[in-house]
Amino acid sequence: MSSWSDKELERVRREYDLDQLDESHLPDDPLLLLKVWLEVAARSGNIDPTAMTLSTVEDSGTPSSRIVLLKKIDEGKLIFFTNFNSRKAREIQNRSGVAAHFYWPELERQVKIAGIAQKVKDSDSDLYYSSRPLESQISAWASPQSEVVPDRNYLEREYRKYRDKFKSSQEIPRPAHWGGFAIDPIRMEFWQGGTYRLHDRIEYTLQNAKWSRVRLAP
Ligand SMILES: Cc1cc2nc3c(=O)[nH]c(=O)nc-3n(C[C@H](O)[C@H](O)[C@H](O)COP(=O)(O)O)c2cc1C
Repeated sequence: MSSWSDKELERVRREYDLDQLDESHLPDDPLLLLKVWLEVAARSGNIDPTAMTLSTVEDSGTPSSRIVLLKKIDEGKLIFFTNFNSRKAREIQNRSGVAAHFYWPELERQVKIAGIAQKVKDSDSDLYYSSRPLESQISAWASPQSEVVPDRNYLEREYRKYRDKFKSSQEIPRPAHWGGFAIDPIRMEFWQGGTYRLHDRIEYTLQNAKWSRVRLAP
C-alpha cells in the first residue's frame, strides 16, 4: 500500500478568493445567514450540504466529534436525529454544551457554532421518524449505535429480525431510544476564505436575547 510522504502533505495548498464578507450586508440574525449559506451550498452541487461535524464533551473533558445531518432549523434551533444511547447522546446528557461545524470547500466557507443541546419533543421525533425510508426506520431498531458488536453478520441478523417483526405492521413505531436533539446556538462564526490568507471572519454572539457581531482576525 503506498502512502503520502510528509513532503507531499506539505505541498497541498490552494488560494481562496471566491467571495468576501461585508458586515454592512449581513443580516442581524445569524440563523438567516446560515439558511442562505445552506441553500447556496446545496445549489453549488455539494453532495452533503447539511452535513455538520458535531462535537460533544466526554466526562474527562476530551472533545469527541462526528458528522450528523442537520434536518431542520426550527425557532432558531438546529435539529439533528440520532440514537439516544449513542456516545454523543450520552455525552450530551452529561454536558449539554456542544459545537457544530459546517465546511463547504467549493464555496470556501465554514460556519462554527457553539450552543446547548437538548432533546426535542417526542412528537417532533415521531414526525421525523415516520418520514424516513422504511429501511432506515428498521435500522434504528437494529443498530445499538456506538456499542461493540461481534461482526457485520450480527447487524444484518438484527436488521432481518426487526424487518420480520414489523412485516405486517401498518407503520413501524419509533424506538424510544431514537429521536432528535435541538442545538440552541449562543455563538456563530461565518468564515469566508480570502486572498493572501486574509480570510473574513464574522462572529455573532447572543447576549440578553440579542445577537451582536464582531470581526475576528483570520
Ligand atoms: C455524511 C454522514 C451523515 C451522518 N448522519 C448521521 C446522523 O444524522 N445521525 C447519526 O446518529 N449519525 C450520523 N452519521 C454517523 C455518525 O457520524 C457517527 O458515526 C454515529 O452517529 C455514531 O457516533 P457516536 O458513537 O460518536 O455517537 C453520519 C455520518 C456521515 C459520514
